[in-house]
Amino acid sequence: MTTDRPAHQVLLLNGPNLNLLGTRDPDRYGTTTLTQVEAEVVALGGELGVEVTCRQSNHEGVLVDAVQQAPTDGFTGIVLNPGAFTHYSYALRDAIDAVPVPCVEVHLSNVHAREEFRHTSVTAPVTAGFISGCGTAGYGLALRAVLGRIRQG
Ligand code: DQA
Repeated sequence: MTTDRPAHQVLLLNGPNLNLLGTRDPDRYGTTTLTQVEAEVVALGGELGVEVTCRQSNHEGVLVDAVQQAPTDGFTGIVLNPGAFTHYSYALRDAIDAVPVPCVEVHLSNVHAREEFRHTSVTAPVTAGFISGCGTAGYGLALRAVLGRIRQG
């Protein structure tokens, strides 16, 4: 039986406070809403032949569950903005490390140009790549990066 479903499914996962994009500190994060960002990434996925599913949660355990379940949910890649969990969630880090699915981490702002506590990402060492400071364009870059990684095998 044939199916029109693309070969690859990517999970776009956003962490705490990213649901406020558009109104949250617009000088830093811009005025584009999360819904608009997600629509752009889904559209880019369509061009690149990959189906993108978008989720956001303010809760650490929900994000851990989503990462853990990614392989059984059929995802072959993850694009993740962990928000502030980036800097201290060993649980999220361990979940990323535990699944055989490449994950590219993305941040709108340049975390290295901000407060010192943001200079550390506990998740980055277990990700396939790290993009920071490119604004909303970073999500598209992350999608391309994770797709490249998936296709490498
Ligand atoms: C962020 C950077 C984090 O330090 C911060 O807590 C966020 C957003 C970013 O996209 O720049 O919530 O992940």
